[in-house]
Amino acid sequence: MEQVHVVDTTLRDGEQSPEISFTPEEKLRFAQQLVRLGVDVIDAGYPALGKDDAHAVSLVAQETHGPVIMALARPEDEEIETALEALKKAEKSRVHIYIPVSDIQLKYMLNIAQEEALKKATDAIEYVREKDIEVEFTLEDAFRADRGFLSEMAQAVTQGGTHYINLSDTVGVAIPSRIGQVFSWLKGELGDKAPILSIHCHDDLGMATANSVAAIEAGARQFHATISGVGTRAGNAALEEVVMILKLWEDELGLSIGINTQELYRTVRILTAMTGVMIQPHKAIIGKAAFVHKAESHLMAVVKEKRTFEIVKPEDVGYPRSPMVLSKYSGRLSFEDKLRELGYSLDPDHLEMAYQRFRDLVEKKREIYDEDVVAMVEEVLSKRPGALILQDFSISSGLEQEPIAHVTLIQEGTLKESSSQGSGPIDAAFKAIDEITGFKGRLLNYSIRALTEGKDALGEVVLWARIKGEEVVGRGVATDIVEASIKAYLDGVNKVLKGEE
Ligand code: KIV
Ligand code: ZN
Repeated sequence: MEQVHVVDTTLRDGEQSPEISFTPEEKLRFAQQLVRLGVDVIDAGYPALGKDDAHAVSLVAQETHGPVIMALARPEDEEIETALEALKKAEKSRVHIYIPVSDIQLKYMLNIAQEEALKKATDAIEYVREKDIEVEFTLEDAFRADRGFLSEMAQAVTQGGTHYINLSDTVGVAIPSRIGQVFSWLKGELGDKAPILSIHCHDDLGMATANSVAAIEAGARQFHATISGVGTRAGNAALEEVVMILKLWEDELGLSIGINTQELYRTVRILTAMTGVMIQPHKAIIGKAAFVHKAESHLMAVVKEKRTFEIVKPEDVGYPRSPMVLSKYSGRLSFEDKLRELGYSLDPDHLEMAYQRFRDLVEKKREIYDEDVVAMVEEVLSKRPGALILQDFSISSGLEQEPIAHVTLIQEGTLKESSSQGSGPIDAAFKAIDEITGFKGRLLNYSIRALTEGKDALGEVVLWARIKGEEVVGRGVATDIVEASIKAYLDGVNKVLKGEE
C-alpha cells in the first residue's frame, strides 16, 4: 500500500489561532506527544518571526526524535538561514519555503508581478539546495491562482530540486471536486519527475477535511493538518478527521498512514490543558458527545451490535470508556501508573510536585478524572523559575459590600502582598496583583468552565490580557474559581516577566 505522510502544523499554523500561544517548553512537550501519535513531520514554527520562535524551533529540533522537524521561511536568504540555524541540531529536518501564487495575493501582499515571484522562488530553491537539506515548497493560495502560472511555478521549483510541492488553499475557498481536478492536472503537467505532492487546507467554508481527502484521492501523498483543526481564522483541516477517514477507507483507497490513532484523544486532551482551547461537544472523533447515544432505539441497537451507530470505535481513538480514575484512596503507585497511561514521564522534582498537587486535590474533590490529572500536570510543568506564585489570598464581598481582595505571592523565596478593592472579587484580586507587579493589566477576554461533572469539579479559567503592551493568554485551574482566576492572571503576568529576561 502507498503511504500518505502526515504533517502536523498545530505548533505553527495552529498557533496563529487568536486563542493559542505556546511557550517553547510547551511546544517541546506537545511535540513529544506528536511523536507518540506517530506523525511524520512536525511543522515546528517560523524562526524568522523572532527570537522566541527561533528558540522554540531549535528546542523542538534538538530534543524530538523520530519525525522530520520542519521550519518555515519566505524565499529570502536571511529567513532561510534563520530556519537552517534553528534546525541545525535536528535528527531529520526540512526547510519549508512559501510564496503566494494568486494574482490578488501577489499584488496586495507582496506587490510584485508573477515574473518577480518566479525569480524569488527559483533563487531560493537554488540557495537552499546547495545546503543539502530536504525542501518543501508551498504555493500559497494555489486554488485562486492562474493555472498557467501555477504550472510554471510548480515546474520551476521541481527543476530546482524541491522534494515536496505543497498546494495551499490558504483562504479555504476551494471545493473537493476542484481540488481533485487541480491535483490530477498538476500531476500530468509535472510528469514522471514530479516531487511528492502535498495539500494544506483552511476551513473558512467548513471544507478543509473534505478538500484534504479529495487531494489525497487525486494523488497528494502528504497532508498538513492541526489537532482539532485549530488555526488562523476558521482553522485548518482537523488531523484526527482526515486520519480516521483514511483509516476507515484504507482498503478502498489502497493507502495507509502511520498514525497511532489510539493517541488521538490524549493529544487533544493535552492541547486543551495546555492552551485552554475549547472543543465543541459534537466535534467529530474527539468531541465529548461523539460516542454518546441518547435515543432509546439507537441505544437498544448499539447494545446488540455497536456497528449499528458507531463507525469508529471509541477505543480506536483512545477515548476513555470509564472516565473515573483516582480518589483519596489512590496512593503514589496508582498516581504514577495513571501518569504513564496518560503519556507523561516526569523528572523526580516535577513528579513530587504533581503528586503533592494531587494529594491537595483529593482533599477537595472526591473523584479525580483524567482531565483533572492532565490539568494538574500541565500546570506543574508550566511553572518557571523566577515566576510569581500564589501563596495565599482572601476575598470578602457581598451584596452590600464593595469586594476587597488580599493577595500574597512568592517569588524566589520573597513574599509580596497587597490589598485592593474592585468591582467584583476577581477584579479586586487582579488589581492587588497589579499593585505588586507595578503593571496595569487590561483584561480582554475571560472564560470559565468546569473540567468535569460534579459541584466539586476543577474550574478552568482561560483569559486574555494586555500587560505592559503585550497580549498574553493565561490559564489556571482550581476547585475554587477565584483561585483559578488568580492563577490564570499570574500565568499571563509570568509570561510577560519571562519575555523580559
Ligand atoms: O495557509 C497557508 O498558506 C500556510 C502556508 C505557509 C503553508 O500556512
Ligand atoms: Zn495555513
